[in-house]
Amino acid sequence: MNTPNEGEAGRRRATWWVGGLVIGIGAFPLYALLFQVWPDLFAPKPQPRPASAPAAASAPAASAAPASEAAVRRATDFLPKEPAWSQALRAAGKDAGDQAGKEPDKRGATIAASGNGAGAMACVSCHATGGSPGAAGAAVPAGAFPSLVGMPAEYLAKQLFDYREGRRVDPVMAPIARALKDDEVAAVARYYASQPAPSLTLAEDGQSPALTLHATGDNGRALPACANCHGVEGEGQGFLLPRLTGQPADYLVKQLDAFRTGSRHNDDDGAMRGIAQRLGEADARALASFYAQGGAR
Ligand code: HEC
Ligand code: HEC
Repeated sequence: MNTPNEGEAGRRRATWWVGGLVIGIGAFPLYALLFQVWPDLFAPKPQPRPASAPAAASAPAASAAPASEAAVRRATDFLPKEPAWSQALRAAGKDAGDQAGKEPDKRGATIAASGNGAGAMACVSCHATGGSPGAAGAAVPAGAFPSLVGMPAEYLAKQLFDYREGRRVDPVMAPIARALKDDEVAAVARYYASQPAPSLTLAEDGQSPALTLHATGDNGRALPACANCHGVEGEGQGFLLPRLTGQPADYLVKQLDAFRTGSRHNDDDGAMRGIAQRLGEADARALASFYAQGGAR
């Protein structure tokens, strides 16, 4: 039971509560505004790096940001990291991109012709250089050795890093890729990119299962046309889609098999692994000789 006095005190207490809530809620937009305008005022202060830290001492001037900026997030934090092969190419020169028809990289030419003298053998002994297929100095090597001429520098550099790091497994190429320094990878990739690709005319007469898969794919098996990515003539597209035309059939079969089993898993979105799993063995063989013959003419 409430006395009049107790009723009065209760009302006063309620008034304070309501008033406090109104002021508290009313002040919220002000806090929000302050956070927007002066985020630094409320953010924890970043610890300044000790001046003697070796990282700070040896860092290039451009990347030595003031310590007070260290904790601030930037839009670029959310971009994917530049892959190592791309950094290597960029370090080698501004115009690493399209090398076709450019002056061949001299250092790359030396590595291709006689190795780097530090464990990487002459590339030409397995990958050939120019001329008719199979012969000494051929553009199209034979057997399981791929042709590198005219491939984009990006694709070639990426493959060499992928062998090094196990995304592509091969007992011959992995030690060679590891014996090359980053700048040597860039030089040799640029050299091969500057060399003319072999003839790129596909055998398009008649209706073979391989031609159908190449040009239209197979909806029933959710197989996209190979030409969508590898080009109408199988000549490759852009920086990272390799030429298939002119590769030896055995090499192509071996790669489709490596994608199918996943030992080659350097197709970042898994597209080639999925495609290779849906291709039968007979289709893989037929496609391989289709692309190999195209280049041999
Ligand atoms: C002893 C033979 C041999 C030598 C020497 C050699 N390679 Fe290879 N290379 C191979 C074989 C075999 C493959 C295919 C391996 C596979 O199935 O993945 C290959 C694959 C490659 C590929 C992948 C091509 C593609 O289409 O994906 C690149 C790039 C490459 N080699 C670059 C080089 C460079 C650069 C050198 C010289 C520094 C070199 N190779 C020296 C045997 C050799
Ligand atoms: C969605 C795009 C896409 C389609 C469609 C596609 N490929 Fe590929 N393919 C790739 C990419 C990307 C790579 C290279 C991956 C890497 O090594 O970085 C590749 C690599 C390959 C290689 C290895 C080449 C080499 O030099 O080592 C072969 C062989 C190949 N594809 C065959 C095919 C065939 C046959 C088809 C059609 C049945 C096909 N691809 C359809 C994207 C595609």
